[in-house]
Amino acid sequence: MERGTDIARAAAALAAGGLVAFPTETVYGLGADAAREDAVARIFAAKGRPRAHPLIVHLAPGARLDDWAIDIPDVARRLAAAAWPGPLTIILAKSPRVAAATTGGARTVGLRVPAHPLAQQLLAAFGGGVAAPSANRFGAVSPTTADHVAADLGDRVDYLLDGGACDVGVESTIVDLSRGHPVLLRPGGMPREAIEAIAGPLAGADLAAPAAPGTLASHYAPRARVVAVPAEGLAAAIAAETGRIGVLAPRALEVEPAPDVVVRAVPDDDAGMARELYAALRDLDAAGVDVVIAALPPAAGLGEAVGDRLRRASGPRDPRS
Ligand code: TXA
Ligand code: MG
Repeated sequence: MERGTDIARAAAALAAGGLVAFPTETVYGLGADAAREDAVARIFAAKGRPRAHPLIVHLAPGARLDDWAIDIPDVARRLAAAAWPGPLTIILAKSPRVAAATTGGARTVGLRVPAHPLAQQLLAAFGGGVAAPSANRFGAVSPTTADHVAADLGDRVDYLLDGGACDVGVESTIVDLSRGHPVLLRPGGMPREAIEAIAGPLAGADLAAPAAPGTLASHYAPRARVVAVPAEGLAAAIAAETGRIGVLAPRALEVEPAPDVVVRAVPDDDAGMARELYAALRDLDAAGVDVVIAALPPAAGLGEAVGDRLRRASGPRDPRS
């Protein structure tokens, strides 16, 4: 795998039907030409991801929604104007130019204009839509540094665009605007409050909707078992565990030192916690802990996404992961 900051090389790899890992403000993506079935098929193979799970199409600033979607409601235009570039993915009825493999056969497509300068330069140089899931093996924790990507995918990637650590740290918020009323499919880097100020109240995801990767209980999970508890319950949860224990908690929470307890402190504010969440889970895995006990933040702002990921990481595991 080649790694660096060469936009022209990365864009050429995409044009040749290859795979390019690239930084976004949320997490690193594993990109391929969204219009090419063969290129998109390589993403699913590299990730070990089931083909029915749809990919987000990333667009350069200034791209036209009408080139990628049809039946676009006014609220989608208002949200896109306010949130892009940024950590928001909008689901709309797809235009025929989006490859069927990209949407896993669905009639809708997820669209997003990322804010990271390297992502924007890559998209501008390539000139088309780039289908990209998070650049990790299926079911694992998303990568927020180039080293994370190299550790997870290594030679499965043709070019790794190195942009350092991601700013937001959790994936984009996903809002479905294809159903007549806005539905929050995944809390993420754009807080619910900011979206609701523009789009009105967001409905919760319909449990009858087809399963997507972000909705699987075992998703976003490190190797260690995860227990997510409110901050007040942290000490009791630590006392109840045996073996090597990792603690993921805001700095302000004092954790009693003990021989078998490894503490990975994260910033106290919701944005700081989101930024370091996945690196902290990877650090604790690397420290060889059996269990991670994580303090749940208040559900406001980015705390909703952090709590969502911690709860999913603590859910029942798929035997494959
Ligand atoms: O921040 C992000 O969103 C990152 C960066 C790379 O942009 N991408 C990302 O992609 O997290 P991925 O594939 O790991 O998660 C995308 C989620 C999946 O749960 C997928 O099912 C959902 O978006 N999704 C994509 N297209 C969809 C569609 N047409 N309908 C419903 N869900 C969709
Ligand atoms: Mg993912």
